[in-house]
Amino acid sequence: MNEKVTIFDTTLRDGEQVPGCQLNTIEKIEVAEALENLGVDVIEAGFPISSPGDFNSVVEISKVISNPVICALTRAVKKDIEVAAEALQYAKKKRIHTGIGTSPYHIKYKIKTTPEEIINRAVDAVKYARKFVDDVEFYAEDAGRSENEYLAKVIEAVIKAGATVINIPDTTGYCLPEEYGAKIRYLKENVPNIDKAIISTHCHNDLGMATANTMMGIINGARQVEVTMNGLGERAGNTSLEEIAMIIKSHHSLNLSTNINSKLIYTTSRLVSTLMSMPVQPNKAIVGRNAFAHSSGIHQDGVLKNRENYEIIDPKEVGIKESAIILTARSGRAALNHRLQLLGFNLDKEELDEIYHRFLILADKKKEVNDEDIRILTGEVFQGEKSLKLELLQVTCGKSTIPVATVGLKINGEVHTSTASGNGPIDAAFTAVKQLISKTIHLEEFLVQAITKGSNDFGKVHIQVEHEQKTYYGFGTNTDIVTASVEAFIDAISKIQ
Ligand code: KIV
Ligand code: ZN
Repeated sequence: MNEKVTIFDTTLRDGEQVPGCQLNTIEKIEVAEALENLGVDVIEAGFPISSPGDFNSVVEISKVISNPVICALTRAVKKDIEVAAEALQYAKKKRIHTGIGTSPYHIKYKIKTTPEEIINRAVDAVKYARKFVDDVEFYAEDAGRSENEYLAKVIEAVIKAGATVINIPDTTGYCLPEEYGAKIRYLKENVPNIDKAIISTHCHNDLGMATANTMMGIINGARQVEVTMNGLGERAGNTSLEEIAMIIKSHHSLNLSTNINSKLIYTTSRLVSTLMSMPVQPNKAIVGRNAFAHSSGIHQDGVLKNRENYEIIDPKEVGIKESAIILTARSGRAALNHRLQLLGFNLDKEELDEIYHRFLILADKKKEVNDEDIRILTGEVFQGEKSLKLELLQVTCGKSTIPVATVGLKINGEVHTSTASGNGPIDAAFTAVKQLISKTIHLEEFLVQAITKGSNDFGKVHIQVEHEQKTYYGFGTNTDIVTASVEAFIDAISKIQ
C-alpha cells in the first residue's frame, strides 16, 4: 500500500511574493480553484497581516474552496495569529502556519535574542494559534542552517504545545540533498514526540537543489511537501509541484502517492504563468515548451520507433497532447516522413528524397520548419517542371541608389537574361521579366504576408495580373521576399497561354 504525501501548495503565498507576480483577489481565486481541481491537499492562501489585500484574498478563497485545507501564514506574533484566524473564518478546513527563525543567523542578527527565548516564543505562538484552530503548522525558519540538536529541542517543544505539522524550511536553499535528508532523519530519530506531527519540507532553489532536497526529505520521513506551481518563489524559487508529483508517480519503488491529477498539470502551469506574468523557461522539467520536444535526428528516429526510447513520461500523463518532433536541419528523413504522413501525404522513396533535399536547404535558412513550410515544399515537388522558371535574380537597391534587377528566366528549357531599373527592387525585377516574355501585363494586386512570426520565416506573395482583359493569379514563397515576389509574378504569367 502506497503511503500518501500531502501536497501543500504555496504558489499564492511564497510564489506570490515574487516582484511582478502579484495577483488581485479574483485572480487568486482562479488559481485556488485550479489548485483544488489539480488535487492539492493544502492551499497556503496568503499572509493576512501583511496587507488588507492579502487578508481579503484569504477570506474570499476560504469561501469558495471546499476540499483543500486553507492555510494562512503568520509570524510568532499574537496580532498576526488573530488576524489570520479572522481571515480563515469561512474556511471549511483551516490551518494557521506560524513560526520563527531558529538558525544562529536569525537568532543573533535578525531577532537579536537567545535560543531559549526563541523556544518560549515558538511555544507561545503555537499555543495561541491552537486557541483558534485545531490544525497548527510550525515553521522553524532557516532550519536548513539551524543546528540539528537545537532544532530537535524546538520541535519537541512546539509539538508538545499542540503543533500538528512541523515545517523544516531550507529558507536560503543552502543544504546539500544528503544534508537535508539527514536533518529530517535526525528529527525523526531524536524528537521523542515526532510521531504526533507530520514533518513537512519547504525548500528553496538558490543552488538548484530544491527538488533533490525535497525528495531526500521525503525519503527520510517527511510526509508533506511545500511546493509551488512552476517552481515560482522568492529569488530562485521554491520546489516545483509538478516535479515532485511526477517523481512520485514515475518511481513506483518509492511506494508513495499524491492526490494530484497529473493530467491537469500543464493547464494549471499555463494558467499560473499567464496570470502571474512569469514565463516558464523552455527547458523547465515537465512543463517547459521543450520538455517533450525532440529535435536531433537520432532522438526523433528513436522516439518514432518507441516513445520510451527517449521519454520517461508519456506527455499525455501531464496533459500535453503529444511529444513534439521539431523539424530542424538536424532532423532525419524518418521525422520528416512522419510529419508528412500526419499532414496526409504518403510519399514513395523518390518523392521523399526530393522533399528531404529541399527541406534541408530550407532548414539551413530557418531555425524550425513548420507544417505550412512543409505543405509548400510538397506543393513545389508535386507541381513538376514549369514552362517558365526563375533561374537567376540579382538586385541592387538601397538609399541613394537606383534599384536595378537582373533576371535569368528559363523559357521552355532555355535561359534568357534581362536587366531593368525600377522604383524598387521588385518593380525593377518585374520589368526585367516583362522584357523577356514580351507580353503586355498589368499588375492588379500584390500582397505580401509573413507565414508565421519571426524574421527568418517564409514570406508568402499573392499576385493578380491582367493580360488581354483576363485575370491570372500567381503565388510564391521564399525566405527572401523579393524572390517570392518574382516567383509569384512568373507563376501568374506562366498561366497565360
Ligand atoms: O522559506 C521560508 O522559510 C518560508 C517560511 C515563512 C515558511 O517561506
Ligand atoms: Zn519559503
